[in-house]
Amino acid sequence: MKKILMLNGPNLNRLGKREPGIYGVRSLEDLEKRMVQLGVVSKIEVICFQSNHEGDLIDKLHEAEDTGMDGIIFNPGAFTHYSYAIRDAIAGINCPVIEVHISNVYQREEFRHKSVIAPVSKGQIAGLGFLGYELALEAFKREAKGEE
Ligand code: DQA
Repeated sequence: MKKILMLNGPNLNRLGKREPGIYGVRSLEDLEKRMVQLGVVSKIEVICFQSNHEGDLIDKLHEAEDTGMDGIIFNPGAFTHYSYAIRDAIAGINCPVIEVHISNVYQREEFRHKSVIAPVSKGQIAGLGFLGYELALEAFKREAKGEE
C-alpha cells in the first residue's frame, strides 16, 4: 500500500478561523478527514501532521524517508518564503514533495511571490483551495500507476 504524508506548517491549525476570506471556512480537521477518505478509496494510506514549529516539520521530512513514504504533500505556510532549513531537508531526502498553497500566493504581497521550496519540489499547486491537496494526491496516485 502506498503511503503519502500530508504536512501542514504554521498557522494552518487555524484553518476555518484564520482569515476565512483567504483560506476558507473549513477546518484542518475537515481537510485531514477528506484526504484520509480519498486515500481509502484509492488504497493509499494518508498520514497527516501539522506543526507550527520548523524543527518538527524538518524531523517529519527526515522521518518520511526513513519510514518509506512514497510522497509528501506539503503546505509549509510562511516558511515557504524563507526557510532554507526546510528547503535543505527536502533536498536531502529521497522522497518527492508537492508544494501546496490554499491561496494564490502570486496575487498577494510581494514577499509571498518567492518560494525557496519550489526549486526542490516536484511541483507546486497554488490558489485552488483545499482542492490543491486533492490534486497533489491524484498526481502521486497516477505516478504510482505509471500514468504520469
Ligand atoms: C499559504 C500561503 C503562505 O504565504 C501563508 O504564509 C500561509 C498559507 C497558503 O496555503 O496559501 O500560511 O501557504
